[in-house]
Amino acid sequence: MSVVTVGWHSASYMSSGPTGSAVTPYGRKNPFPAPIKRRWSLSRPGSGKDTRHLEIDLAGSGLEYSVGDSLGVFARNPLSLVDGLIAALGMDASSPVAGPQGQGMTLREALERVYTINRASRKILAGLLERLPAGEGGERARLEGLIASDPSVAEFLYERDYIDLLREFPSVRFESPEAFLKMLSPIQPRLYSIASSPAAHPGEVHLCVAVVRYETLGRARIGMASGFLGEVAQVGVCEVPVFVQESPKFFLPSEGGRDIIMVGPGTGIAPFRAFLEQRAADGAGGRNWLFFGDQHRATDFLYEEDLTRFQKSGILTRLDLAFSRDQAEKVYVQHRMLEQGAELWKWIQGGAYFYVCGDARRMAKDVHQALIQVAREHGGLAPEAATAYVEETLMKGERRYLRDVY
Ligand SMILES: Cc1cc2nc3c(=O)[nH]c(=O)nc-3n(C[C@H](O)[C@H](O)[C@H](O)COP(=O)(O)OP(=O)(O)OC[C@H]3O[C@@H](n4cnc5c(N)ncnc54)[C@H](O)[C@@H]3O)c2cc1C
Ligand SMILES: NC(=O)c1ccc[n+]([C@@H]2O[C@H](COP(=O)([O-])OP(=O)(O)OC[C@H]3O[C@@H](n4cnc5c(N)ncnc54)[C@H](OP(=O)(O)O)[C@@H]3O)[C@@H](O)[C@H]2O)c1
Repeated sequence: MSVVTVGWHSASYMSSGPTGSAVTPYGRKNPFPAPIKRRWSLSRPGSGKDTRHLEIDLAGSGLEYSVGDSLGVFARNPLSLVDGLIAALGMDASSPVAGPQGQGMTLREALERVYTINRASRKILAGLLERLPAGEGGERARLEGLIASDPSVAEFLYERDYIDLLREFPSVRFESPEAFLKMLSPIQPRLYSIASSPAAHPGEVHLCVAVVRYETLGRARIGMASGFLGEVAQVGVCEVPVFVQESPKFFLPSEGGRDIIMVGPGTGIAPFRAFLEQRAADGAGGRNWLFFGDQHRATDFLYEEDLTRFQKSGILTRLDLAFSRDQAEKVYVQHRMLEQGAELWKWIQGGAYFYVCGDARRMAKDVHQALIQVAREHGGLAPEAATAYVEETLMKGERRYLRDVY
């Protein structure tokens, strides 16, 4: 039987001694099974997105976090997907298999809790080829062609899970559950920026999760961890295996009097809700400026109530909004930064910290360029000097340009 070692499974077996006292501190190798206390949608009806707020109970875990940290989550696969896969394999869900610690479990439990099944691994292709019966010329030629071409394998696997593959190569039969499980990869944890301050919500951790949804080959798909947190895991029932991932490079200034500028469109808002709660709890005197954006103001203004409350209480000094799809031309957070460039430059010259959180692929790069442009236009720096100021002085030398991007 195949035995793999993954983190979360140990939680229910190793976290407590005979008296229930903790013998191993909770962490990535021994995640805490945490109930979800509350969950609601941050996206309003009519939104093109599905972003959820979650409140997770850490009581009794001994887990501590600071604002800026992330929460690691080991997700489970939806049973509808698990059962669909077992049916496609033509196997019995209750077949006994070895778990990660060698403990007994059923095939259904292993597919739910141990292995990634919403995307297919590369090694399955060789496994399929080996099991094609003689005479299956068409399926064999197709598989061999795929395996021989690196770019087309990546493209092929990007859209498919194991159910798709078993349907496309119907002549393949796996001889046993173990033979199939050997082809799979263990579930890897996902990180989520923590959206709460422990000072405001003792014993809890809050998250802001965008549920990944898309359709390929005529089937609706859901991201494994975002789907689990946002939809599959039942509030008050399901225990989510979690651990705290410290972010030593993403922190509030130790002097409360420092100003901070936060740029966090979409789920990038998460750590800044936590920062604002923490600055309020600390009675920090520095000013707080947030740039937020998403698709539409009416449906995607995440944490609008919290932000309005922070404005009223004076904690949120400035809020600049960029709703990208409320007008013909796209308006993004970096456009707002450029509009407010003179004031932004004054804050930075006054010692403000500059934070960015959210999409790494496009947004963070564009915000970086906008910051360089502000240094050029309002600091009067030549292009190279402006880049050096942002990348060497702010980022490395003074460590007050900090990012949490993904
Ligand atoms: C430090 C850090 C902090 C983060 N904080 C947050 C946060 O606060 N909130 C948040 O929501 N996320 C956050 N993330 C992202 C999060 O960790 C996950 O990556 C995200 O939720 C997707 O994971 P998933 O398991 O749901 O999706 P997966 O199951 O991993 O699926 C995503 C995959 O689906 C495939 N896919 C997606 N769209 C399509 C398509 N149209 N066609 C075909 N295939 C497609 C792609 O291969 C993609 O990689 C953070 C990440 C990091 C590293
Ligand atoms: N597949 C899915 O269903 C799905 C759903 C949600 C999120 N995601 C992914 O999850 C990640 C996080 O998503 P998110 O909800 O946090 O929000 P996001 O997708 O990053 O979008 C937040 C806001 O940023 C805007 N934006 C797009 N490109 C930008 C750029 N270059 N510079 C500045 N702003 C830009 C978006 O505008 P426009 O969208 O109008 O361009 C939107 O207004 C992203 O990588 C996203 O692709 C996937």
